[in-house]
Amino acid sequence: MASTEGDCMNIKVEKGRAEKFPCELLLLFSFESPEQLEGPIQKVDLGWKGFISTLMKQGDFKGELFEARLFHTQGALPAKRVVLTGLGKKGEFDLEKWRGAASKAGQFIRNSGIKQFAFPIKKLESFSEAELAESFVTGILLGIYQFNEFKTLERDKIKEISEAILLGEKDEEIKLIGDGLRTGEIISEAVYMARDLVNGPSNQVTPTVLAEKAQQMANEHGMEIQVFEVSQAEAMGMGAFVAVAKGSQEPGKFIVLEYNKGKGLDTIALVGKGITFDSGGISIKPSENMDRMKDDMSGAAAVLATLQAASKLQLPFHLVGVMPATENLPSGKAYKPGDILKTLSGQTVEVISTDAEGRLILSDALTYSLRYQPKAIIDLATLTGACVIALGDFVIGLFGNDRSLLKRIEEASMKAGERVWELPLWEEYFEYLKSDVADFRNVGTRAAGAIIGGIFLSKFVEKIPWVHLDIAGPASIEKERPYVPRGGTGIGVRLLLQLLRDWK
Ligand code: BES
Ligand code: ZN
Ligand code: ZN
Repeated sequence: MASTEGDCMNIKVEKGRAEKFPCELLLLFSFESPEQLEGPIQKVDLGWKGFISTLMKQGDFKGELFEARLFHTQGALPAKRVVLTGLGKKGEFDLEKWRGAASKAGQFIRNSGIKQFAFPIKKLESFSEAELAESFVTGILLGIYQFNEFKTLERDKIKEISEAILLGEKDEEIKLIGDGLRTGEIISEAVYMARDLVNGPSNQVTPTVLAEKAQQMANEHGMEIQVFEVSQAEAMGMGAFVAVAKGSQEPGKFIVLEYNKGKGLDTIALVGKGITFDSGGISIKPSENMDRMKDDMSGAAAVLATLQAASKLQLPFHLVGVMPATENLPSGKAYKPGDILKTLSGQTVEVISTDAEGRLILSDALTYSLRYQPKAIIDLATLTGACVIALGDFVIGLFGNDRSLLKRIEEASMKAGERVWELPLWEEYFEYLKSDVADFRNVGTRAAGAIIGGIFLSKFVEKIPWVHLDIAGPASIEKERPYVPRGGTGIGVRLLLQLLRDWK
């Protein structure tokens, strides 16, 4: 699918001072009610006869978090306009607030119809120019993301910023800003890709299209790829994946994409649920909100996007992305409640509900990933409605069998601003999955539904350190957050990239 509007914004770094730089708009930030203005905003204030300090004294701009005001400079500065954005209380500042403020500023500038702006970057609190540039670029790009691919009417009314100029003063600052800019762009581009795939409807984003996208990435970045057809998966013994794929006319694809294969690096397997549409199958879902089930491939989208960015950032790992992709539909060929499936692991599963299809395709994908003897396996899946009930739409359900891997994920999560909350995988929960006729059932009780989904998956990872991320809540959202517009969020991409960048 073509990329969407926001990434048309060209961002560059230039040498220059805010108070001397001619541009359509100069973007400046301030903490709330500071004792004294600091850094670039102070220099601009001096050159502007104390205009900004007067505004603040009079309470016309307070610097509250995400506050944004536009002023015309009337020739008092080389910049035609100034936007002041608030960062909130100084003591509460962190990069998550910074990304949010960048996003708010970007949305405000875009919605005002202004096409170009400049923004001075200077060390702030304990953060370097590189960190600030990366988070600024990430926040603004993710904030101005729009999915307009299928809008044909009034396209001329779509607003876009065409150019942003990051200003540095010294050569070493300019280098740091440039590094942060590049990293921020690579990460944002990956999140855009994941969002585009999630927002794309299931008649466009089919398993075949996911496989083509993976193939294209393999060609562009020199990755290894294997795409197994359903018949091949059947011959390999993937009875669970094949059962789910059988009900659909759209051919399923079992996609394996490898970055840095054969270089002797540590292997990490990333496994993503790729149900391009989940109707529930024979255990059909209620029709209300069924349209949302086009997002049931968000795990696979996150895995693809992470591999793309990992390759551009040249992260030193052998990554294996395993993406079982299929629709889950009812038909005369569909699998049925009561069916007993033989998984790739050899273990058998009694199907209670065909709507618990994610854990079925993932069971074969997890078993498949074991053949790479990975140091860690991380799966991402819109697995259970129960997880949404438990944690809401901004938190990832976290499950796992290895304390140190769980801790790494929690640390990366705090830094990336993609929140996780751990739920237990105590063996007692497994009682609910015992079957009279097979090794397990695919459904337990409604109570603890997210945990039971996790316990099911745990039976397919042997002793390998493994983490399961249930992204059913945050995969797509109804109400926007600071740098996450409505719709597909690309959740998981920044979490995984942070994890890999900090792994050492
Ligand atoms: N894709 C759904 C989970 C889901 C629900 C994601 C709501 C996002 C929002 C999954 O395949 C599913 O249907 N799970 C069932 C499991 C149940 C039958 C044990 C569920 O959550 O109801
Ligand atoms: Zn389902
Ligand atoms: Zn599903």
